[in-house]
Amino acid sequence: MKRQGPRLINWVATMKIIELEEVGSTNEYCKAADIGEDLCVFAKRQTAGKGTKGRSFISDGGGLYVSVMRHYENFSAEEAFKIMVNGCVAVCKTLEKFGIKPVIRWANDVLAGGRKICGTLIENTFSNGYITRSIVGIGINVNNEIAQEIKDIAVSMKEIAGKSLNFDKVKRLFIKNVQKEYKIDEYKSYIDWFGQTVTLKTADEEREVKAVDVTENGRLLVDWCGNMLEISAAEVSLRL
Ligand code: BTN
Repeated sequence: MKRQGPRLINWVATMKIIELEEVGSTNEYCKAADIGEDLCVFAKRQTAGKGTKGRSFISDGGGLYVSVMRHYENFSAEEAFKIMVNGCVAVCKTLEKFGIKPVIRWANDVLAGGRKICGTLIENTFSNGYITRSIVGIGINVNNEIAQEIKDIAVSMKEIAGKSLNFDKVKRLFIKNVQKEYKIDEYKSYIDWFGQTVTLKTADEEREVKAVDVTENGRLLVDWCGNMLEISAAEVSLRL
């Protein structure tokens, strides 16, 4: 019998979990469904998956597409990077359990073997200097086939493991991990490119710099010809 509407699973006490067969975007679903409670929404496929900087995100069957919506009181906007830290570290910890060595590409991508295995799109709602709601959208290439046109820059867990993975196990582990709180040092422990030359790209130029650190508020600290610069993720993309 075909299931009507979303399936609700009381997997964890604190957060309602919704599983959808197909949706435009789990982030957009969260916004439309927001009645003030925290939600974790999974979809098997997305027809209009959203990436960062207005890009689209290919979301074929076999990948893990999830949005975690949380509401806050007294969460200062200055601490917004903590949300990114939590999402990225939860993904890295999940990948590690499957024998995959993750590397974070500041600010929001997770790579494995030099190719992107996960992307994160965070959409926050602000009021008077505070974050009132965050939607953390995460797409992990688990067992999905990587589209031909991005095969040189993207990879799946299946490709790295050399076999299809138990999807529900990946999902369960992710749910467990995403409910923990992580420190920025854990985020930084997944960065192996500090001290190396990296490329910062804007729409008009590329600049080679030495990567030095990521600050508490999520800026990338770089050395450019002897000048220390703090770069915001909104301004550039990073090539390792
Ligand atoms: C990026 O790499 O540019 C970010 C990709 C974020 C994709 C996830 S999949 C679940 C959630 N829903 C979306 O529409 N996007 C995010």
